[in-house]
Amino acid sequence: MAGVLDGLKFLSQSFRNGATVGAVWPSSRGLCEAMVRPVVGGAGGPLRVLEVGAGVGPVTAELTQRLLPGDHLDVVELNVAFCETLHQRFDGAHPVAPIIHNEDILKFDVGLRYHHIVSGLPLANFPSELSEKIYARFFELLEPGGTLIMFHHILGREVLRMFGPPKDRKRARQLMELEERLAPLVVGSRNVLFNMPPARVLVRRRPNTPEDTAAPVRPKPN
Ligand SMILES: C[S@@+](CC[C@H](N)C(=O)[O-])C[C@H]1O[C@@H](n2cnc3c(N)ncnc32)[C@H](O)[C@@H]1O
Repeated sequence: MAGVLDGLKFLSQSFRNGATVGAVWPSSRGLCEAMVRPVVGGAGGPLRVLEVGAGVGPVTAELTQRLLPGDHLDVVELNVAFCETLHQRFDGAHPVAPIIHNEDILKFDVGLRYHHIVSGLPLANFPSELSEKIYARFFELLEPGGTLIMFHHILGREVLRMFGPPKDRKRARQLMELEERLAPLVVGSRNVLFNMPPARVLVRRRPNTPEDTAAPVRPKPN
């Protein structure tokens, strides 16, 4: 029952804040599992994980189960109503309780760098300059060698680029060009057909080199 109520809350927020929510229903269980599968520990001690754009928390639920005592989970969500739900669902969760931040990811900084970032942000809805800033911020927030795990709706960008109004076509084309520049960083992908609509999970790795490897996504100077 909680799942249906959460879904209805998500639906109502998607009507009010369509541009930032970017979907009408929370991600399916299969998609959430695919999003957290790359979150694995190494030999280097506890993990630091950041989830961005948690909505009503279907991915958060998988993360709280997957992480181990001692691991750290920050969750950043812009929408106040979703944050209330996240507090109700996850305060005191076991084995790892997330720290929930009601904030814009571009303003978020608690001084940590993360081994994994799991993002549900609907970049295809955002102006391309904003997507560029968000990617740059993600790579700043990642440890070298850390992974960025994201999903997008299969063919969503292509359909927008071909059939959308001119403004949306331009935005979709610019986002696809930006993501083409990031293609060398992709280390894994998985299609999840059982989701509304079907989705693709992409895993990108921040290269493990001493240079500033976030350069490909640094926003262009104005
Ligand atoms: C497509 S929903 C994904 C929700 C959830 N992860 C899921 O898979 O069902 C995108 C979420 O990103 C949040 N969001 C959008 N812009 C954001 C920003 N700048 N900072 C933090 N969260 C943001 C929205 O409020 C929304 O909850």
